[in-house]
Amino acid sequence: MKYSLAASAFTFTACALAAPTAGKTFQTSVQPLLSKNCFSCHNEQLKSGDLNLQAYTSADAVTKDRDKWENVLRRLEAGEMPPKGMPRPDPAEVKTVTEWIRGEFDRADRNTKPEAGRVTARRLNRSNITTRFAICWA
Ligand code: HEC
Repeated sequence: MKYSLAASAFTFTACALAAPTAGKTFQTSVQPLLSKNCFSCHNEQLKSGDLNLQAYTSADAVTKDRDKWENVLRRLEAGEMPPKGMPRPDPAEVKTVTEWIRGEFDRADRNTKPEAGRVTARRLNRSNITTRFAICWA
């Protein structure tokens, strides 16, 4: 019994390492942990801390409400949620969830920033050239 538990834990870890975040959806990687560890307080009726985690069902919902999810990420990484005295979530699952949230924030940033980034780069280049000229002529 002990042996088979250890073996399945190993298999789980190996799989988790082999496929970091690719193909992981909100439903498969985030919702299971939330429903086990968070929904008892953060649901439609209780909304502890004014947060109803049951209301989120997709990656888009998460990135649209980024402020709240920055908090979720912080609380999870600090081990502050679920609160002291509650059963601890599985650390491997917490890691999956925090990596997924970060991954979604990165994806959202990549989708929204390229334009602004390009403009800034162009401006920087132009001012660099001016600076270089200034140095040459000084
Ligand atoms: C036993 C009830 C309980 C459980 C279970 C619980 N929380 Fe909370 N949570 C609270 C209470 C009460 C607050 C408000 C007080 C505070 O901020 O510490 C809160 C606040 C929060 C906040 C801050 C809300 C904000 O936007 O300012 C976040 C984020 C959070 N919880 C996330 C979670 C996550 C993620 C889980 C599951 C891993 C979880 N909580 C599980 C009771 C709970």
